[in-house]
Amino acid sequence: MYAQTNRQTSNAKEKEDCSSLNNSPPDTPKLMHGGNYIKEGRDSAKSTCLIFSPKEEDEVGSLGRYLHLFAKHKVNLLHIESRSSHRRPNNYEFMVECAPGCNVASVIESLRNECSYFSIISRNHKDNMNTVPWFPRRIRDLDKFANQILSYGAELDSDHPGFTDPVYRKRRKYFADIAYNYKHGQPIPTVEYTPEETATWGVVFKNLTKLYSKYACREHNHVFPLLIENCGYREDNIPQLEDISNFLKDSTGFTLRPVAGLLSSRDFLAGLAFRVFHSTQYIRHSSKPLYTPEPDVCHEILGHVPLLADPSFAQFSQVIGLASLGAPDDYIEKLATCFWFTVEYGICRQNGELKAYGAGLLSSFGELEYCMSDKPELRPFDPPKTALQKYPITEYQPIYYVAEDFEDAKEKMMKFAQTIPRNFGVRYDAYTQSINIIDSKQQVEALVNNVNQEVQILMDALKKLQH
Ligand SMILES: [Fe+2]
Repeated sequence: MYAQTNRQTSNAKEKEDCSSLNNSPPDTPKLMHGGNYIKEGRDSAKSTCLIFSPKEEDEVGSLGRYLHLFAKHKVNLLHIESRSSHRRPNNYEFMVECAPGCNVASVIESLRNECSYFSIISRNHKDNMNTVPWFPRRIRDLDKFANQILSYGAELDSDHPGFTDPVYRKRRKYFADIAYNYKHGQPIPTVEYTPEETATWGVVFKNLTKLYSKYACREHNHVFPLLIENCGYREDNIPQLEDISNFLKDSTGFTLRPVAGLLSSRDFLAGLAFRVFHSTQYIRHSSKPLYTPEPDVCHEILGHVPLLADPSFAQFSQVIGLASLGAPDDYIEKLATCFWFTVEYGICRQNGELKAYGAGLLSSFGELEYCMSDKPELRPFDPPKTALQKYPITEYQPIYYVAEDFEDAKEKMMKFAQTIPRNFGVRYDAYTQSINIIDSKQQVEALVNNVNQEVQILMDALKKLQH
């Protein structure tokens, strides 16, 4: 669940306007004017991370000397860690998180002169053009997103079908709280859905599954029976996110994470770099089972999940995620637009026929039929052009982009990613579940060695197959 640009702007402004009006403790979300819940903890106040390496090789006690600099400049640190450097053998690397509100400029100046490597990563990147926009570097950093939501999930717009239903609003708060308290590595709590919620799901499930054989892409139709068998996809049962997440993990390494409210595009896309998909767990209002103004559990698990179990599509999604890490704001918007026209509303060609693979289509009874009619305009998927296309978010799409297949879409996205102004490469290390920031020759050499070893394994296997 991520915010569209226009919502993001208005909510962010609301957040700013209201933040000074609350006195509740920083660890709980606070009720804002208009019923919004927003967390105002230490993370949302925009801390700055500095990553640096000492000049001399293997200098004992060097961290203490650097920490002294912070004390001298009166900069409080929230977190300190040391690691073996990937950039220089035998060297160490330190990461410190400076508390918001401190004047870090003077300490930055001193550190720059004393270090062999220095980099700043900050949520506050707009103020300093030499700063890389913050992004998570370890999978558990995604826990920080709970503090960065633009609005809490219990907030409903006045035209939302559940706006005047106090029971539904209470339920939405319950789901938002589950997600808000979720931490990486925990099982996603099992939810007991009410008979009313299950009935709503039943209507959606029945109507959509009738259309899949005709309109859904091959990959979706291939995985769907497995979800029925393994994850409890049934008309009379809303599947649990935890069961689905475990199934996806075995299929492609993707996992689900519950999300408490709207995430910014930047944060939502960053999750994909780790093969983590932020998913809602609540269901739409029962008064309109075939309509929802926002993503809900039907959209996530009928639309997104089947495709995330496909290796090629999973890789495509991760390519978009990796491209977003540390990218400038205008490129985040371009990537979010490409995401919209592929993962959300993508159509592909299979055996000469058009098939839907976008979750927004596969979870919408009406739009799935509409997108295959002669009413909308179809254009070939071409990231540099697609990225600039404006789109409506509350009505059927007037334009769809057609991909030849996921491999083709992935290659095009990778090419597009190369145009993003970023002076480092990124790579996901599945062993450590962390992002490698590649900005030295040594790292590239080490990675090439790894690839060589992989190629050896493949050559060996190929030889055995030829006998
Ligand atoms: Fe979606």
